[in-house]
Amino acid sequence: MCGIFSYFGPSDKAAEIVLKGLKKLEYRGYDSWGIAAKSASGDIKIEKHVGKISEVISLNSEMMMPSHLALGHSRWATHGGVTQYNAHPHSTENQDIIVVHNGIFENYLELKQSLIEKGHQFRSETDSEVFAHLIEENIKLGLEKAFKMACDMVTGRYAILAMSKYENKIIAARRGSPLIIGKAQDGAHFIASDVPAFLEYTKDVMYLDDNQMVVISDEGANFFDLASEKQIEKRVISIDWKEEMADKGDYQHFMMKEIMEQKETITKAINLDTEKIMEVAKKIKGAYGTYFVGCGTAGKVAMVGEYLFSEIAKKHVNVKFGSEFKSAKNFLTDRSLVIAISQSGETADTLEALEMAKSKGATIVSIVNVETSTMARYSDIVLPLKAGPEKAVASTKATTSQIAILTLLAYAVADKLDEGRQMLIAIEGQINDMLNPRYEERINSLSEEIKDSKDIVIIGRGANFPIALEAAIKLQEVSYIHAEGFAGGELKHGPIALISEGTPCIVLVSNDESKQEILSNAMEVKSRGGFIVGISPENAEVFDIWIKVPDAGFASPIVNIIPIQILAYKLALARQNNPDMPRNLAKSVTVK
Ligand code: M6R
Repeated sequence: MCGIFSYFGPSDKAAEIVLKGLKKLEYRGYDSWGIAAKSASGDIKIEKHVGKISEVISLNSEMMMPSHLALGHSRWATHGGVTQYNAHPHSTENQDIIVVHNGIFENYLELKQSLIEKGHQFRSETDSEVFAHLIEENIKLGLEKAFKMACDMVTGRYAILAMSKYENKIIAARRGSPLIIGKAQDGAHFIASDVPAFLEYTKDVMYLDDNQMVVISDEGANFFDLASEKQIEKRVISIDWKEEMADKGDYQHFMMKEIMEQKETITKAINLDTEKIMEVAKKIKGAYGTYFVGCGTAGKVAMVGEYLFSEIAKKHVNVKFGSEFKSAKNFLTDRSLVIAISQSGETADTLEALEMAKSKGATIVSIVNVETSTMARYSDIVLPLKAGPEKAVASTKATTSQIAILTLLAYAVADKLDEGRQMLIAIEGQINDMLNPRYEERINSLSEEIKDSKDIVIIGRGANFPIALEAAIKLQEVSYIHAEGFAGGELKHGPIALISEGTPCIVLVSNDESKQEILSNAMEVKSRGGFIVGISPENAEVFDIWIKVPDAGFASPIVNIIPIQILAYKLALARQNNPDMPRNLAKSVTVK
């Protein structure tokens, strides 16, 4: 949540470089943005606005002054409404200390009160602004010392950057929110919330870990431990992402590009390193309790995993949403295994769950897309999705890769990894067939038919139940239609009261033991006026509309979610929403 980007280097176009970098981080927050740049004479200019940074063509003329040092921020509001005042950067009254911040300072109210009593004046309602004033309190000791002292005073999870009028440096620290340092050949240094922001300049990165601080100055990048103030040596790591992976290419939106990329990404998941899968399978077999943990879509994938493990591996696993993981604390030991599922690897609730598990001695595995993420670096074993950057807020290709990897793991625990792989390979081609313009057109007509609905209900049984929950997330987040997923059998216990004449009900069907039961549930809805959309390998009398999916056995959760992803996208367009940047959301949820 919130994108941070800074530049310090030989180019005198620091502000423009930051503008460009921030545009690549917009998926992290897009309600407002701002940039501060420092001229050679020490003047600091700030420009900030409400609105999307992608729509900005150029900065104000005064921001174009020659500058070698600038920092910027693209915001997802936590404390304080979406206003220009609340947009970052924040500064002291005389604009001599500038900060940008991602995360939450939990104790900001008490700090703000005591600063006000000392005469500081605040302009925003944010928690972030206190940090600039805290630095000001001790600025006579130098920016570095004052910055460190401010870090000692704030609590919570955050990433923070600061610069001052008096010194030619940028300082950053992190506790829980990501910051990566890029180092270019020409001596330039970048600090960003995510790697794609500076990929066009360098692939050489250094990671700032929790409770560490980095000082970027003419001397280069120097890292310190925040508590001991001791200097730390950092390894420069070369990453293998290509710049074009993070671009839209010929697509209008990232969401559609990423849906289409599933032709390749599922294959990459299927080809995951056998040794690693077997290593994790062995850990699962030996563990006294395996926990799958994730949030949002990843949490629903975890639930799919539970069904797959039950059916394929005959093995019980526990499933927890990151934010609810605390209920596991009394059961975690050094024999527990916690498997985190995440696209970004930066989700605060999932990370907190892992921290708790680690404190109990549990082994940590992550099934994660961003291999450079905090979660990946925190894990004992990483199963990477290798799906390439996923930038649309709505998760699509990461979801199906995660399910594919959990399917392989379940087969590996059952000592049938090859059989699992063959089963998935058999559906690869059928997925390619689904992702064609004719299929898309059929779903487009459906979206036209239901685009004005007030509610959409999705039902499924077995592994299709969590897929119904995931379908609801997809439809909610980009179409803004009220959508809810239910276990088919639960409908008659209450939710069926939601059905009225014409309410669309999407029925997820697989050719398995639950088929007849879910079709009966669909009939119950139809009898009450529901408009039945069947996602199923075969047509059925109860369907008003049939969207065909391959008969995919244990891979049904993968093939059943794909038409919903396309439907969500088409509904977003039909309702004139931007599917890549849905309102109120951000791609990576780094606050609790
Ligand atoms: O990066 P993660 O997979 O950990 O993110 C978890 C959720 O925030 C994420 O899946 C969210 O629910 C998506 N926007 C859903 O499409």
